[in-house]
Order: sequence, then C-alpha cells, then structure tokens
Amino acid sequence: MLQKPRGTRDFLPEEMEQRRDIEMRMRSVSRKWGYREICTPTFETQELYTIRSGEGIINEMYTFEDKGGRKLALRPEGTAAVLRMYVNEAKVLSKPIRWCYLSDCYRYERPQKGRYRQFWQFGAEQIGADTPAGEAEIILLADSLLKSSGVRFELHVGHLAPMKHLLSDLSDTDRKAVMAILDKKNFEDLRTYLENIKAESLYESLKSLLNCRTIDEALEICGDMPEKERMKGLIGILDSQDLEYRLNLGIVRGLDYYTGMVFEGFADNLGAENQIIGGGSYRLAHLFGGEDVASCGFGIGFDRVMVSLGDFTPKSTPSVSIVYTPDVAGHAFSVSKHFREAGINTELNLLERGIGAQMKHAAKTADYALVIGKREAESGTVTLKDMKSGEQKELAVDAAISEVN
Ligand code: HAM
Repeated sequence: MLQKPRGTRDFLPEEMEQRRDIEMRMRSVSRKWGYREICTPTFETQELYTIRSGEGIINEMYTFEDKGGRKLALRPEGTAAVLRMYVNEAKVLSKPIRWCYLSDCYRYERPQKGRYRQFWQFGAEQIGADTPAGEAEIILLADSLLKSSGVRFELHVGHLAPMKHLLSDLSDTDRKAVMAILDKKNFEDLRTYLENIKAESLYESLKSLLNCRTIDEALEICGDMPEKERMKGLIGILDSQDLEYRLNLGIVRGLDYYTGMVFEGFADNLGAENQIIGGGSYRLAHLFGGEDVASCGFGIGFDRVMVSLGDFTPKSTPSVSIVYTPDVAGHAFSVSKHFREAGINTELNLLERGIGAQMKHAAKTADYALVIGKREAESGTVTLKDMKSGEQKELAVDAAISEVN
C-alpha cells in the first residue's frame, strides 16, 4: 500500500469541516479590520526565500529545478511572497495596505505532533504604516483572530532594539550566534559562547533583560536608545486596549528579516510545539526591487491551533439523503434541486440499491432521509424521516423543506 510522504496529513470530511469553520471565523475577523484575502504561488524562485529568511529556513527548504532549469522552492513561509507580490502588483495602492492569507507552507523539519512538513499559516501583512498604531493594530488583530478560534493562549510582545543595543559591541557573526542561542533559550550554551568570545559580562545583563516587565526597566539595563519613544507608544496603545500580554524582550524570532517589534503566542495545552503565532515588523520590499517600506505582520500556525482546539462539532447546515426507486429518478432529482436551492445539503442515491440499503446509508450520512416512491411522486409529497428521533411524516415538498430548515 502506498503511503503519504512523511510529515504530511490526510484530512477526512469531519476534520475539514472543523478547519473550514475556524478558517471562516479568521477570514471574517480579518475582513472586519480591513484585511482582504490574497493568494500567492505555492512555489517561487529560490532566491526570494534565500535573500533574507535566515539559515534555519534555508536549510529546511524544499528546493527543485524545473524542466527549464529554473531554481524554485516550495513556500516555507508566507511573508516574502506577499512582499514580492506587493512590489510586482501593488506599489501604487494607497497605504497602508492590509492583506491576509491562508497558505500551505513546506519545511523539511523532523515531524512530530504540531510540527509537519506541510502545514498552513493564517497570516496578515500590513504594508506602509511605520507607526506604533500600525504595530499595535497587527498585535490586536492577531489577538482577536486567535480569540475568535477559541484557542487559549498567552501573548508575548517584545522589541529587538534593547537586545541589539546590548550586543552592539559584538561582531555581526557573534551577535547573530548569541541571538540564535537565546531563541532556543539555552542558557548553558549562552554562557559558554560568551566566555569563548570574552564577553561573559553580558550574561547577567541578558538574563535581566529577559525578566524586564517595563520599557523603563529595559532602558536601565541597556541605556537610552532612539527606539524608546516608539516602544513606549506601542505599549501605550496596547495597554489602553486592556490587551492581555507579557512584555518579553528576549524574543528573537527564527527568521532574519525582523527589524523592531516582535511578538509570539503560545497555546496553553500544547507540548514542545506550543508556539501558535509569530510576527513582527520587518523591511523586505527594497530587497525585491521596490522602495524601502516598513511592514509588519504575523503567521498563525493554523494546524497547531487545530491541535489545541481538539475535536468539536462545527455548526452545520442540515443534510438530507434522498431515498427513491429508479422509476421516479427524474422526480427525485427535481426534489433534490428544490432542497439545495433552500440551502439544505442534499444527496441522492446513486447505486440503485433497495430502499432498506438506502435507508441504512442515509442513517450513516445524513440528518434526514427523504423517501420518494411512486405514490409520493404522483401526489407531489415526500416522506421525511428524522434519523435521530426516528419520527416520520408524509409532507408536501415545501412543508418538508420548512421542517428541515
Ligand atoms: P514563523 O514563526 O516561522 O513565522 O511561523 C509562524 C507560525 O507557523 C509558527 O508560530 C508556528 O505556529 C507555525 N509553524 C512553523 N513551522 C511549523 C511546522 N513545521 N508545522 C506546523 N506549524 C508550524 C513566519 O513564518 C513569518 N512569516 C510570520 C510573519 C508574518 N512575520 C511577519 N509577517
């Protein structure tokens, strides 16, 4: 028996209905905030993702050459393609641009619960508002989206400036290495690395920075910095909205393109793979041939949200299975059309089985069975059976539609 590739999943109808339910909630919230849905290609030129994604992502990329010798990659994350699309198609649109997307992403990671090689991100990108209000909106939108799904989570908001300030005497390579170690929260490795580069005095400052609860505390550790007002402006708006979050100046983010505000969210019932959202401010458009424009956004790990929510029954439209004898097939098709037009999910028997076998199938697949035999066809009625209660009655077609709806 052939198997699906490692790290991929099949979704049966029940699971797809749950996923669609959550997707639709997220789309609807995004639209209310002015974020309209877009779609970019599943594969792009490799270059798009190697320019500024960072080594982590580059090592995990699915790359291939097409028959024309072009070097391509499956999308490992949503943002680069969105900014490429902005530069190609939308530079002239009035700013800020607000877009959202639900994209499948591909990363060659070691699969485990909540970590897959094909996974989906519900993301949003806001282009062209270099303000604390722009950043605050993105964080507040992320919070409402996650809340609309019902997932329980903790939000951490940070900024790269204090840490970069603290590490400003290090070489580029050392700063990147220290930040990568901090991203993994591996304090033993941090101490060893700092000792090796004769910068052990940074260890305590970095640890204190991670515990700061206010921007003022951070300024005391790192000294004054030009980003002070910007950080205070953002925190001021978030606090005015009573957002529940934790200031976390230790957030580093795995991707290389972030420039300032960064944030992450963690579901409270997942294990190691509990990060359900990541985002922040970044600049990418100028690397793709556009003008330098400030942007910010986030990607929600849609599959992790689904794992965190567990099994649930989405609100569904009622479903009807039409049970009939072959001599009244045309009539049964016409009745099914009326039911569908009234918004009811309606299936017809296709296998020419006896009424008993059709009723058994209906019991497994629908809320109601609608029986149409010669007598019903002639009198313009149907026999409607509620498969849960077993109650059965003969009704005119319109009356049966009202009963089901
Ligand atoms: P990211 O943190 O790499 O950011 O991914 C966003 C989210 O995708 C993660 O927080 C996680 O929930 C989910 N995720 C990542 N890898 C996997 C995986 N292998 N299996 C399941 N879920 C996964 C980005 O990708 C940025 N583009 C976010 C962004 C948008 N920043 C600004 N705009």
